[in-house]
Amino acid sequence: MEPKTIKKIGVLTSGGDAPGMNAAIRATVRAGFFYNLEMYGIYRGYEGMINNEIKKLESKNIAHILERGGTFLKSARSAEFRTSEGRKKAYENLQKHGIDALVVIGGDGSLTGAHLFFQEFGIPAIGLPGTIDNDLSGTDSTIGFDTACNTAIQAIDKIRDTATSHDRLFFVEVMGRDAGFIAINAGIGSAAAATLIPEKKMPIERLVERLKARTKALKQSNIVIVAEGGKSGGAAEIATKIKKLLPYYDIKVTILGHLQRGGSPSSFDRVLASKLGVAAVEGLMQGKYDVMAGVINNKIVFTPITKAIVDDKEVDEDDFRIAKILST
Ligand code: F6P
Repeated sequence: MEPKTIKKIGVLTSGGDAPGMNAAIRATVRAGFFYNLEMYGIYRGYEGMINNEIKKLESKNIAHILERGGTFLKSARSAEFRTSEGRKKAYENLQKHGIDALVVIGGDGSLTGAHLFFQEFGIPAIGLPGTIDNDLSGTDSTIGFDTACNTAIQAIDKIRDTATSHDRLFFVEVMGRDAGFIAINAGIGSAAAATLIPEKKMPIERLVERLKARTKALKQSNIVIVAEGGKSGGAAEIATKIKKLLPYYDIKVTILGHLQRGGSPSSFDRVLASKLGVAAVEGLMQGKYDVMAGVINNKIVFTPITKAIVDDKEVDEDDFRIAKILST
């Protein structure tokens, strides 16, 4: 598409927050200033766009946010934006401020919003992959995934200390409603006895066999990682089933939950978010619309949003195989 002249860019974060979102906002805004553009913060995602929570940003607004978790623009999951009336209200508010392009940082739902908005109103938009789940195609890693994996692994290390002291079997639930990326990473990185992910069904009998074999091998502790969207249920459900089949185990369940969404972003996420923020502004200036900026093999890549959100990014078969080899 022929590039439109862009003067004012609005930036927003939407959906589940992720460590590194602040770094992405900062890079987007800094890049905008570098190219002499006016930059606007849209607060509370699409909800704020509908309610006109839009403010012109200055350099001081983004000082010292790179290293902070969460998102200073705040985030929301907007039901109203899913309606055409809601999107019309949002569009009218952008018009009031003269905003002529958008950078949307979020997961698949947020990027779908940007796509619809572009289709309906022709507002040039670029998405940045901001989710701990890593479930977007068009990028090797999403912003926040690395930090969330580090957080999960550090927590599991601590759980292992107490598991070993008491000879206990722990079921640890990690986030990932439909995706097992955090689970498989945490499983490999924390020497789990087994990893249960939404993408693969592991029959309960196989888990029982694995645990029995480990007991025979005199393993000192057993940690089973369960992705929250696991096919055989969450950690509590699986723990109950195992308790019935292996009553001699002293079993505990820990759900890591939103702990994984917080904290200062890792070096990897800071750099990724920073590269993508600059890419978003430069992409808009070059006429790249309705796309998501990502990094594949260390190179910036723009993928149509419709392709990035398709649920076809899969946990690497090798990762799954490696996790299995290392847990026996
Ligand atoms: O999409 C990120 C994520 O953290 C998922 O892993 C999780 O299922 C979901 O968000 C939780 O969302 P909420 O914070 O709205 O309950």
